[in-house]
This record gives sequence, C-alpha cells and structure tokens, in this order.
Amino acid sequence: MRYKLVKHSKLEDIDTDCLVIPVKGAQDRWKKRNSVVKKLDSITQGMVMKALEQGDLPAKSGKTLMLPLPAGMKARRLLLVYAGSKETLGQKEASRMLKGTASRLKEMSARNVTLLWADLKIDERPVDWLIQRTVSAIEEVTYQFDNYKSKASKPVALETVSIIPSTKSTLPQKALKEAVALAEGMKLSKDLGNLPGNECTPAFLAAKATELAKEYPDLTVKVMNESEMKKLGMGSLLSVAAGSQEPARLIVFEYRKGKKTARPTILVGKGITFDSGGISLKPGARMDEMKFDMCGAATVFGVFLAVLKLKPSMNLVGIVAASENMPDGKATKPGDVVTSMSGKTIEILNTDAEGRLVLCDALTYARRFNPEYVIDVATLTGACVVALGAHASGLYANDDELADKLLAAGEYSNDKAWRMPLWDEYQQQIDSKVADVANVGGAGAGSVTAACFLERFAKDFRWAHMDIAGSAWSSTRKRSTGRPVGLLYQFLLNG
Ligand code: BES
Ligand code: MN
Ligand code: ZN
Repeated sequence: MRYKLVKHSKLEDIDTDCLVIPVKGAQDRWKKRNSVVKKLDSITQGMVMKALEQGDLPAKSGKTLMLPLPAGMKARRLLLVYAGSKETLGQKEASRMLKGTASRLKEMSARNVTLLWADLKIDERPVDWLIQRTVSAIEEVTYQFDNYKSKASKPVALETVSIIPSTKSTLPQKALKEAVALAEGMKLSKDLGNLPGNECTPAFLAAKATELAKEYPDLTVKVMNESEMKKLGMGSLLSVAAGSQEPARLIVFEYRKGKKTARPTILVGKGITFDSGGISLKPGARMDEMKFDMCGAATVFGVFLAVLKLKPSMNLVGIVAASENMPDGKATKPGDVVTSMSGKTIEILNTDAEGRLVLCDALTYARRFNPEYVIDVATLTGACVVALGAHASGLYANDDELADKLLAAGEYSNDKAWRMPLWDEYQQQIDSKVADVANVGGAGAGSVTAACFLERFAKDFRWAHMDIAGSAWSSTRKRSTGRPVGLLYQFLLNG
C-alpha cells in the first residue's frame, strides 16, 4: 500500500475514487453546526443529510455508509463513517472507527482513497498517533497470506491512501514515514511467522537474515553454526537441537547508527521453528500451531526491518536463537543435565520447556555487547496464554524503568503488555536436586517460573522478558499477528 499526506482543499475539488468523511458529534447538531457534513450536504444538494436522517449510518463507531457518485463533487464515492457522539474521540472509539473504515475500504473496488481526518481530535493523542493507527489498521485488514494456495485469493483493489491530517499547511511527514516503516516490519514478521515449519527452518531464517544484510548496508549479520556454538560452550541451546535433522543457528544482527559510545539495546528472539516438545512429546491437538514458536525471532526480524527502513540514530543488536525441537534417538531426554554457556548446569526435566534453554545461552552471549538493555521475546509458555489470553503480552523485568517504558510503548501502539511478578519466592520452584537449576518449575505460575529461569542468566544487565505465547498469533485464524513489533519499535523510537 502507498500512503501520502495531502493538504486540505475544497471538498468538491478532492479528486479521488473515494472520499472518507468521519461523522461525529450529537446527531441533532450534524446539520446545524458548520461542519463538514453541512458543507457536504449543500454541495450534494441535500443528499447527505437525507441519508443520515433516514438512519442509513448506524450510530456505532466504525459503521459506514457509502454514497456513490455524489453530485457536485469530483470524488466518485463518499464514505461516511460514524465516529462517535462526542467532538473528541476516545482512543478505543478511534481504533474502532479506523478498523471499520479499513474493512470497508478493503471490500471496495476503489484504487485510491482520501481520508479527511482534518477535524478528528483524539483524546490525549497527537496527530502522529492517528496517522500511525490509520496505517496499521489498513495494513492489518489488507494483509494476505496465500503463497501456498494454488489459486491466490482476490487481490485488494486499493493501492493508494491519501490522508488529509489537518487544515494547517505543515504535514506530519515524519509520523507517516515512521508508520510506513513499521508496516513493512510488521509484514515481514507476519510472513515469517505464517510460513510452515518445513520451509521456515533455522537455516532458512539465517539465509533470510543474510539476505537482509545484503539489501541494507546499515545491517551486519553474523550466523553461527553448531560447531561455533559448541566452541562458545552453548550446551543448553545445542541440547534442544540434538534431536533434529535441521542444525541450529545463532543469528546476530547489528545496526549501529548511534553514537560510538552509546551502548546498544539488544533484542533476543526465541526461534524454535517447530516445537514438537521433543521426547516430552506434545499431544497432537493443535500441534501444528507450534510452527509459530519462532514468533519471537520473527519479531526481531520485523523490528530490524522497520529500523532499517527508518534509519534512526541508535545502536541495536539482535540475537536469534534458531532451532527445531524434535524427538529422536539422539534427542535430549528428561533427566539429562547440560552445561550452559554461563557455566550453570541445567537439569532438563521436560524437553518441552526448550525455549528457556535456547534463550539462556543467547542471554549469556548478549553480555559481550555491553548492553544498555536486553529484551528477550518468546512464545514461552502455555501458562501465559491461560493468564493473559491474547490481549496482552506478559512482561517481566529486573528494572522498573525499563518495564515502565515498555508498558507505555505498548499502550501507545495498541500492542499492550502487562507486567508480571518476578519475586524471589518463585525461584525455589526451579531449584534442582541434581544441577544448579531445573528447566521446569512444577505446578503453578508456569509463565513466572519460566521468567525466573531466564532471570538467573540476566544478572549482569537491565533486562526484560516478553512472553508472547498468547499475543503472537491467533489460534482461531491460524495467523501471526506481527506482535510485539509495534511495541518494541515504539519503545526504540521513544528512546
Ligand atoms: N512453545 C511452547 C509454549 C506454548 C504452548 C506457546 C502453547 C503457545 C501455546 C513452549 O516451548 C512449551 O512447550 N512450554 C511448556 C512448558 C512446560 C513444559 C513447563 C508449556 O507451556 O506447556
Ligand atoms: Mn516447548
Ligand atoms: Zn516452545
């Protein structure tokens, strides 16, 4: 999709396949007030008010009414969209309005549309927010993933979206640029997540990263194979890959356009390209969804692409721990003890708790970058889905300031996270009778004890962990959501 910001001009002169106009405020004032509606009504010689008066636009945020071929106008269609009874829209209302608009635009045969957002005011949110939400709503509904259908679904007709953001002459180009870069990043993240496990292997992810580095000179990528990881002592990560025919990879991204002396933020992604559970085999039902177990990795890819498009001044490192988790004669068994790169020994009581096993070595590796912050992103526990469902990612942190920044970025970008506790009391659940630590914490607080495990490997820096098991994909739609690319990107831009 192409997006443009355009200046306000006379309503009748706006040359577009479809002019989208929000209708807001108390119904009895639509006509009396000197609003856009009134102007439109006089241009169209009463058509607009007649339609509104006969109730053709339901008074529910996001409902739309299409008026084709309006008289007296250059626009070929008018799309009225209900935007609430108040002059200033609440954020939820605005989101519903944008979603309704986007869905209607998707079904239309219009190739270019113009959104007249000039007199939209959103509660406590700047025009930048409106632009970002508009782009993301349209991207969300127009996203298609049909590479694997021999007959592709009907393409979306819409090509160009013009936004009239204000009556002022200065257009918020920076906000649009940021939003478009994010859209590209989210799309990559969704695409990678949606790929089947037989295509999206650790080697595939590594090749994809290398390809990105070729295309974007600001990115350097280093890929480590199993023997290099072995030399580094990554016994925990490698124990997960032991049962797979697909060798593991550690993929390291570096983007350094910040001050030389500025310590980098590090994003660590869980990249289990298929999680069968290993010897602790998962039940069959919905096991297919474990192709999404690399959505943490996909998030790292997505954030990097967004950053590469935008080119902000910052130092960013990404570490993707990519592996399959499979049962085999050579697979790791319950009761096995492995030594992690940190030197800590781990008793593997359940081979299905593999995410933490790959992440702990990636976290230890992160130390060498002298990071400002380390944030790992992982589809880590079913327990997190039980606790928070799909609406929020679980957030854990050993630093309150970092946690608050992430929560705020999530609120702003409509990609919410909810903080969970990391109290010491939980730590004893993962004490092992045999080794330094056990990889499962027994009954209760499964998402918390998984985070507690990671925390033991994140003592040397300010760290946060996001459990995205519930937010990264939709089980009903069997589709990746691209989350939490929006949250992390916003966090990075906020600085
Ligand atoms: N990838 C799963 C977590 C998961 C499960 C995400 C279901 C989304 C839906 C992870 O590797 C896993 O299997 N975790 C186990 C941990 C348990 C063995 C302590 C789980 O959550 O059951
Ligand atoms: Mn697992
Ligand atoms: Zn997993």
